[in-house]
Amino acid sequence: MADYNNLMNLAKEASTNAYCKYSNFKVGACVLTSSGQTFKGCNFENSSYGLAICAERCAVGAAIVNGETSIRAVAIYSPNTDNCYPCGACRQVLNEFKDGDIDVITEENGELKITKLSYLLPESFSL
Ligand code: THU
Repeated sequence: MADYNNLMNLAKEASTNAYCKYSNFKVGACVLTSSGQTFKGCNFENSSYGLAICAERCAVGAAIVNGETSIRAVAIYSPNTDNCYPCGACRQVLNEFKDGDIDVITEENGELKITKLSYLLPESFSL
Protein backbone atom coordinates (compact mmCIF):
# COMPACT_ATOMS: atom_id res chain seq x y z
CA MET A 1 0.00 0.00 0.00
CA ALA A 2 2.89 2.38 0.71
CA ASP A 3 3.94 1.88 -2.90
CA TYR A 4 0.44 2.75 -4.04
CA ASN A 5 0.41 5.96 -1.99
CA ASN A 6 3.53 7.00 -3.86
CA LEU A 7 1.98 5.97 -7.18
CA MET A 8 -1.12 8.06 -6.44
CA ASN A 9 1.03 11.06 -5.48
CA LEU A 10 2.80 10.79 -8.83
CA ALA A 11 -0.58 10.63 -10.60
CA LYS A 12 -1.67 13.77 -8.73
CA GLU A 13 1.55 15.51 -9.73
CA ALA A 14 0.93 14.55 -13.37
CA SER A 15 -2.65 15.88 -13.28
CA THR A 16 -1.32 19.39 -12.66
CA ASN A 17 0.14 19.36 -16.19
CA ALA A 18 -3.06 18.19 -17.90
CA TYR A 19 -3.70 20.13 -21.11
CA CYS A 20 -7.48 20.19 -21.00
CA LYS A 21 -8.59 23.65 -22.08
CA TYR A 22 -11.69 22.26 -23.83
CA SER A 23 -13.12 19.99 -21.12
CA ASN A 24 -11.40 21.50 -18.07
CA PHE A 25 -11.26 17.91 -16.81
CA LYS A 26 -7.76 17.25 -15.49
CA VAL A 27 -6.50 13.68 -15.26
CA GLY A 28 -3.15 12.31 -14.15
CA ALA A 29 -2.00 8.71 -14.21
CA CYS A 30 1.08 6.79 -13.19
CA VAL A 31 1.89 3.21 -14.15
CA LEU A 32 4.07 0.88 -12.11
CA THR A 33 5.95 -1.61 -14.24
CA SER A 34 7.03 -5.11 -13.25
CA SER A 35 10.61 -3.91 -12.85
CA GLY A 36 9.44 -1.32 -10.30
CA GLN A 37 9.71 1.76 -12.48
CA THR A 38 7.02 4.44 -12.60
CA PHE A 39 5.86 6.50 -15.58
CA LYS A 40 3.51 9.46 -15.43
CA GLY A 41 0.99 10.70 -17.95
CA CYS A 42 -1.67 13.39 -18.23
CA ASN A 43 -4.49 14.01 -20.66
CA PHE A 44 -3.82 16.36 -23.54
CA GLU A 45 -6.56 17.68 -25.76
CA ASN A 46 -6.74 19.25 -29.19
CA SER A 47 -8.87 21.85 -30.95
CA SER A 48 -9.92 18.87 -33.08
CA TYR A 49 -11.74 17.42 -30.06
CA GLY A 50 -11.64 13.75 -31.05
CA LEU A 51 -7.85 13.73 -30.86
CA ALA A 52 -7.74 13.99 -27.05
CA ILE A 53 -5.35 11.51 -25.45
CA CYS A 54 -6.20 10.19 -21.99
CA ALA A 55 -3.76 10.32 -19.09
CA GLU A 56 -3.59 6.53 -18.87
CA ARG A 57 -2.56 6.07 -22.50
CA CYS A 58 -0.03 8.88 -22.15
CA ALA A 59 1.51 7.04 -19.17
CA VAL A 60 1.52 3.70 -21.01
CA GLY A 61 3.28 5.39 -23.94
CA ALA A 62 5.92 6.79 -21.60
CA ALA A 63 6.58 3.27 -20.28
CA ILE A 64 6.76 1.77 -23.77
CA VAL A 65 9.23 4.33 -25.08
CA ASN A 66 11.48 3.42 -22.14
CA GLY A 67 11.38 -0.26 -23.05
CA GLU A 68 8.88 -1.24 -20.32
CA THR A 69 6.01 -3.38 -21.60
CA SER A 70 4.80 -5.11 -18.42
CA ILE A 71 2.47 -3.17 -16.12
CA ARG A 72 1.54 -4.19 -12.56
CA ALA A 73 -0.51 -1.21 -11.40
CA VAL A 74 -1.86 2.16 -12.48
CA ALA A 75 -2.97 5.05 -10.30
CA ILE A 76 -5.47 7.48 -11.80
CA TYR A 77 -6.43 10.84 -10.33
CA SER A 78 -8.69 13.71 -11.26
CA PRO A 79 -9.31 16.71 -9.02
CA ASN A 80 -12.74 16.86 -10.72
CA THR A 81 -14.12 13.55 -9.42
CA ASP A 82 -13.63 10.66 -7.01
CA ASN A 83 -12.79 7.26 -8.49
CA CYS A 84 -11.62 8.36 -11.91
CA TYR A 85 -11.81 4.96 -13.59
CA PRO A 86 -10.19 4.46 -17.01
CA CYS A 87 -12.39 4.83 -20.08
CA GLY A 88 -13.08 1.80 -22.24
CA ALA A 89 -10.28 2.54 -24.71
CA CYS A 90 -7.73 2.87 -21.89
CA ARG A 91 -8.92 -0.37 -20.28
CA GLN A 92 -8.18 -2.17 -23.53
CA VAL A 93 -4.77 -0.48 -23.89
CA LEU A 94 -3.83 -1.34 -20.28
CA ASN A 95 -4.97 -4.91 -20.89
CA GLU A 96 -2.37 -5.27 -23.65
CA PHE A 97 0.45 -4.75 -21.15
CA LYS A 98 -0.90 -6.50 -18.04
CA ASP A 99 1.39 -8.56 -15.85
CA GLY A 100 -1.18 -11.26 -15.04
CA ASP A 101 -3.62 -8.57 -13.96
CA ILE A 102 -3.33 -4.86 -13.17
CA ASP A 103 -4.27 -3.11 -9.93
CA VAL A 104 -6.21 0.04 -10.82
CA ILE A 105 -5.79 2.55 -7.99
CA THR A 106 -8.29 5.38 -7.59
CA GLU A 107 -9.14 7.76 -4.77
CA GLU A 108 -12.47 7.88 -2.91
CA ASN A 109 -12.96 10.35 -0.05
CA GLY A 110 -9.18 10.68 0.21
CA GLU A 111 -8.67 6.91 0.54
CA LEU A 112 -7.09 4.62 -2.02
CA LYS A 113 -9.34 2.10 -3.69
CA ILE A 114 -7.90 -0.89 -5.54
CA THR A 115 -9.83 -2.52 -8.38
CA LYS A 116 -8.54 -5.25 -10.67
CA LEU A 117 -8.45 -4.49 -14.39
CA SER A 118 -10.01 -7.94 -14.95
CA TYR A 119 -13.06 -6.67 -13.04
CA LEU A 120 -13.27 -3.50 -15.13
CA LEU A 121 -12.73 -5.34 -18.42
CA PRO A 122 -14.14 -8.88 -18.14
CA GLU A 123 -13.98 -11.27 -21.10
CA SER A 124 -11.36 -9.05 -22.69
CA PHE A 125 -10.24 -9.28 -26.30
CA SER A 126 -6.74 -10.27 -27.29
CA LEU A 127 -5.27 -11.91 -30.38
N1 THU B 1 -9.84 11.32 -19.77
C1 THU B 1 -8.71 10.71 -19.31
O1 THU B 1 -7.61 11.28 -19.34
N2 THU B 1 -8.82 9.46 -18.83
C2 THU B 1 -9.98 8.75 -18.76
O2 THU B 1 -9.97 7.57 -18.42
C3 THU B 1 -11.25 9.40 -19.08
C4 THU B 1 -11.14 10.71 -19.78
C5 THU B 1 -9.72 12.68 -20.30
C6 THU B 1 -9.97 12.79 -21.78
C7 THU B 1 -10.40 14.23 -21.91
O3 THU B 1 -9.25 15.04 -22.03
C8 THU B 1 -11.06 14.55 -20.59
O4 THU B 1 -10.68 13.52 -19.69
C9 THU B 1 -12.57 14.62 -20.64
O5 THU B 1 -13.10 13.48 -21.24
